[in-house]
Amino acid sequence: MSRRSVFCGVGGYLPDRVLSNEELSARVDTTDAWIRERTGIRERHIAADDQKTSDLALEASKRALAHAGKSADDIDLIVLATATPDLTFPATAARVQAALGVTKGAAFDVQAVCSGFIFALATADNALVRGQAQCALVIGAETFSRILDWEDRATCVLFGDGAGAVVLETEPEKRAGDRGVISTFIRTDGRMHDLLFVDGGPSQTGTVGKLRMQGNAVFRQAVEHISGAMVEACARGGVDLQDVDWFVPHQANQRILDGVARRLGIPPQKVVSTVAEHGNTSAASVPLALDAAVRDGRIQPGHLVLVEALGGGLTWGAALIRV
Ligand code: UT7
Repeated sequence: MSRRSVFCGVGGYLPDRVLSNEELSARVDTTDAWIRERTGIRERHIAADDQKTSDLALEASKRALAHAGKSADDIDLIVLATATPDLTFPATAARVQAALGVTKGAAFDVQAVCSGFIFALATADNALVRGQAQCALVIGAETFSRILDWEDRATCVLFGDGAGAVVLETEPEKRAGDRGVISTFIRTDGRMHDLLFVDGGPSQTGTVGKLRMQGNAVFRQAVEHISGAMVEACARGGVDLQDVDWFVPHQANQRILDGVARRLGIPPQKVVSTVAEHGNTSAASVPLALDAAVRDGRIQPGHLVLVEALGGGLTWGAALIRV
């Protein structure tokens, strides 16, 4: 019997502390005008000293479960995307599993940086369709504030902390109808690993390290590969790009969102943008944007949604979902 992973609910969480562009311009040589003009970012949220990635993930997961009308007992798979785990091991997903009170199935992390949520979604979808699990929490959660070089104006203004989660449930294709994850596309090209990386880690340096990025080069790769991934996800799903109701991109830079939309002839009003309110939250950004557009009623049941991202690795991908 063919099965489908069907979208049941979404939740997002941003820490209370807001760091504005004005505040940042008192710390490094930058201005509110430069940040807005070059990135579209107005502010970002910063986790409290005692808040870990798993705490953010837990909050987003509770909200997603409530929205889906599910409880911890229903969940038998947790796939958590993060580049900022609580500890080197165990997986942050294991901590979230315990904190939620989930007692069955597997929980593990996926590491594809800003593309992490797309990779986690593809991983969970595969497990659900193969019958390895019935109901999955797919989470993107990050505390990038902990790996930023707060003296590097070219990177510290771009990122923020946050978490988002989606609940997916498997249903027989007959019952799911045209709803569910229609296609996924994920890709890595490790030859570009030095365009965006953290200069620390347990094996190479024994330190946590700081984020380093060649912003301009990443920007160019982003517009090209994100566009390609979106076209590929549509082709795999047998869907025309024009028939997509909502585009929910990784929120890195408004200029990347605009560049991709221009390149593919997508009307800007179909593109969900939350980058102004939280900056680049890496793996959390796609579910945070999805949450915003579901909660304000733009995305309605039955709509065709295309999510996409590009991040360190380089990694990139897209997924097509009828919610
Ligand atoms: O999430 C995954 C991937 N990450 C991304 O997608 C990020 C991709 N890259 C970007 O979004 C953009 O490249 C940035 C926002 C990082 C930079 O924008 P840009 O238009 O590519 O600027 P640039 O790097 O070419 O820098 C232009 C100038 C430089 O000064 P000079 O050399 O022209 O004198 C920078 O030093 O802007 C300067 N600059 C700043 N000025 C004020 C860099 N950062 C800042 C800053 N405030 N915060």
